[in-house]
Amino acid sequence: MKIEKLALADFEVFLAYLNDHLSDNGRGGTAYFQPLPRADSHFPVEKADGFKAGIGIDVGQPGWRRVWLARDADGAIAGHIDLRGHPERHTGHRCLLGMGVDRAYRQQGLGGALLAHAAQWALVSGIQWIDLQVLSVNTPAINLYQRHGYRKTGEIPNMFHIDGQYFSYTSMTTRLR
Ligand SMILES: CC(C)(COP(=O)(O)OP(=O)(O)OC[C@H]1O[C@@H](n2cnc3c(N)ncnc32)[C@H](O)[C@@H]1OP(=O)(O)O)[C@@H](O)C(=O)NCCC(=O)NCCS
Repeated sequence: MKIEKLALADFEVFLAYLNDHLSDNGRGGTAYFQPLPRADSHFPVEKADGFKAGIGIDVGQPGWRRVWLARDADGAIAGHIDLRGHPERHTGHRCLLGMGVDRAYRQQGLGGALLAHAAQWALVSGIQWIDLQVLSVNTPAINLYQRHGYRKTGEIPNMFHIDGQYFSYTSMTTRLR
């Protein structure tokens, strides 16, 4: 499957895909993967502008972000991965990762391919570490990250209280080489 950088012109199509993706949050057989209540599982409108702006910010500058899309044979978005800077200063050698694969394409190796693509980009961009946070109930994601060299660095018990349940939050990291 083709993996390409998100172009600004495709941002609205990407947002529609993302909102459809988020509608899976805690639904059916899918674990909660975003700390959002079921009734509010869509991309927050107030965050869209910052997300979009980040694509145009130089790597290492505050607010930078890069997004890659996997497209199926018809050009539809099958998965995404994004890297962004930490909000803290003096952390330019690290970044944060987010990702997702469309329900129709899971368990076919696409998640792994997206992780490898982003890691290669980060490595050549001079980034040394990729960090992430994942809901501890999200076993498919944690297994995927572990298989790709991420190790657990901590866990905040009962970090979120959503839909009457408590969710712990796991931090993971990988050192690029
Ligand atoms: C987590 C997620 C991104 C994984 O993506 P994916 O494309 O299914 O990942 P992969 O296919 O590379 O690997 C997933 C599993 O499929 C298996 N797999 C890979 N290729 C396969 C194939 N051809 N046939 C059968 N199984 C396969 C992998 O071995 C892996 O198994 P494991 O979990 O037992 O180790 C996806 O489930 C998802 O989008 N979930 C919802 C959003 C989410 O959780 N995002 C992360 C938030 S932190």
